[in-house]
Amino acid sequence: MFKINENYLKLPGSYLFSTIGKKVREYSEANPDKKIIRLGIGDVTLPLVPSVIDALHLAVDEMAEKTTFKGYAPDLGYEFLRQAIATHDFKTRGVTIALDEIFISDGAKSDSGNIQEIFGVNNKIAVCDPVYPVYVDSNVMAGRTGDYLTDTGKWSNVIYMPCTKENNFAPELPKESPDLIYLCFPNNPTGSTITKDALQKWVDYAIQVEAVIIYDAAYEAYISEDNVPHTIYECDGAKSCAIEIRSFSKNAGFTGTRLGFTVIPKELKCGEVMLNSLWARRHGTKFNGAPYITQVAGAAVYTPEGRTQTMEQIAYYMNNAKVIREGLQAAGYTASGGVNAPYIWMETPKSMTSWEFFDYLLTTANVVGTPGSGFGPSGEGYFRLTSFGSYESTIEAIERIKKL
Ligand code: MLT
Repeated sequence: MFKINENYLKLPGSYLFSTIGKKVREYSEANPDKKIIRLGIGDVTLPLVPSVIDALHLAVDEMAEKTTFKGYAPDLGYEFLRQAIATHDFKTRGVTIALDEIFISDGAKSDSGNIQEIFGVNNKIAVCDPVYPVYVDSNVMAGRTGDYLTDTGKWSNVIYMPCTKENNFAPELPKESPDLIYLCFPNNPTGSTITKDALQKWVDYAIQVEAVIIYDAAYEAYISEDNVPHTIYECDGAKSCAIEIRSFSKNAGFTGTRLGFTVIPKELKCGEVMLNSLWARRHGTKFNGAPYITQVAGAAVYTPEGRTQTMEQIAYYMNNAKVIREGLQAAGYTASGGVNAPYIWMETPKSMTSWEFFDYLLTTANVVGTPGSGFGPSGEGYFRLTSFGSYESTIEAIERIKKL
């Protein structure tokens, strides 16, 4: 008889954002007159910028002509897109990334969930706490995390690196040596970030303990301060110890269009084996490429017009972030983030748990956020709001919160 992957049975509950979606749907159905403002999941609300839309139209027309029609995309993605990435995301930062070190995908979520497949099941992972749930859940599914301990909300075989008010939501080097280290900067969910010097320490540490850093830079476009690295490869030695994952979702509004990429330098090796070759093998076997039209749209993001237009969107969202952070602080809440990231991380009031505050906010202010504890035990007592709503609804949400 067939057997299931029993690791799936270890996963507690459903995926965080599915649980929230269900709760909000139920509340909304029971209270159809309430105008709910959604600042929960980090999903963009502005439409794709004109240069991306123009590129999409042209690419669709190409698909309608026998002479320009495209079938399967090249394994690693179209060269025109990888070239634009190598030039604009890396060369401008003084980093040389070869085109065959860039793998185009359908997004950073899939890549950050799938990347663990190229590592042995006995690797020990280290994650920030709180953390984007995909890193942990994908390792649970692979059988790498041990058992879920209900009393602590932790997995027995995972190294947790608490990110708390005391350490300014920046993880400290773990006492126990990990094999795989997941880092996300600017950070989801806390909205904090890391200086180049601090990231260099992580790179040095990874080299010293022979670990790989899986660096999620999905929110790179939101960096506003100097001395915050835009790519981990700005750090010396990072090419020998780090994989970087990027997204078009947050910088160009592709959450529904789906496009991302992963960089695996050829210098990153386990003995003589290049991780680049393993990922290339996996990519070729399990993925048939992001659609041509999507890759053309992605390349449009790097044109002068595309850059100007997408940067205007980022400025719009970052203005919302300012409204949220300053509004919460004016109302007496403790809130951080929102300077280099579209997330604001607030302390829940009156010793409420994160989920108590979620229910309270939903039912009294009709505002949806994300409970901090959903991202890990150190998120308890915190709550995340996103700046991806409209300006008007963001203002209204803050007004409602101020009146509580
Ligand atoms: C979030 O809300 O944390 C993000 O939208 C999740 C994601 O990008 O997959």
